[in-house]
Amino acid sequence: MVDIQANRETIAILGGTGDLGTGLAMRWSKAGYKIVIGSRTLEKARNAVANLQLISPETPADAMVNADAAAAGDIVVLTVPAEHQLATLGGVKTALTGKILIDVTVPLVPPKVGTVQLPREGSAGKRAQDLLGEDVMVVTAFQNIAAHLLQQDVHIECDVLVAGNKKVARDKVIQLAEEAGMTAWHAGPVENSAAAEALTSILIQINRRHDISHSGIKIVGQADHS
Ligand SMILES: NC(=O)c1ccc[n+]([C@@H]2O[C@H](COP(=O)([O-])OP(=O)(O)OC[C@H]3O[C@@H](n4cnc5c(N)ncnc54)[C@H](OP(=O)(O)O)[C@@H]3O)[C@@H](O)[C@H]2O)c1
Repeated sequence: MVDIQANRETIAILGGTGDLGTGLAMRWSKAGYKIVIGSRTLEKARNAVANLQLISPETPADAMVNADAAAAGDIVVLTVPAEHQLATLGGVKTALTGKILIDVTVPLVPPKVGTVQLPREGSAGKRAQDLLGEDVMVVTAFQNIAAHLLQQDVHIECDVLVAGNKKVARDKVIQLAEEAGMTAWHAGPVENSAAAEALTSILIQINRRHDISHSGIKIVGQADHS
């Protein structure tokens, strides 16, 4: 039975028709969050919602174009390819004021996706925060999690590094990652998103050279509270 709490936030996922957005939507929908799938086209969003409701029929979900989704979400998640990150955010900027924007962007530059090539702003997370200004709480996360693991009912071993300038916003995203079945950690200000973004290229190299399908990271040295 899904636990749908009336006071829970609505999560809007821009580009939620894609691989990563679908995976996050499935996990948060199963956790009882109302989901809004955003897309450039309403029809595509509707198809994604229909698929989501096959998996999680008890949880409400809506389909909207990205601008309406950004306005409808209490928390907004950006899951579009890196080259469309800024244009998509620029189109919804005013709807994000006062909200948490979770940005998953990994700025890989094909064909050398196994080589770290961060943008001149330092990271995709920093350039999002620069564009949106401090009235939007940009929090970066999930850059090292494979979309198709999110889409399956499997335990995800890889930890999540959560970067952003406001601790209260990072706390919320850590909670959301945990509710989606992952372990997440405070990684400091949004500049530190560079480390998680760069790590993805390293994990790609490890996958290739060590014949691993989904390498990931695990934070060690946890406090013993026993
Ligand atoms: N895939 C992974 O395993 C993974 C892991 C970690 C992080 N990420 C990050 O997650 C983000 C999304 O990755 P993905 O693999 O889910 O991407 P994707 O499936 O290729 O695309 C996601 C969505 O982006 C939208 N989109 C495509 N072209 C666009 C454009 N020109 N302008 C605006 N929106 C556009 C599309 O939605 P509509 O056509 O419905 O508008 C599409 O469904 C990327 O930044 C990536 O770095 C991915």
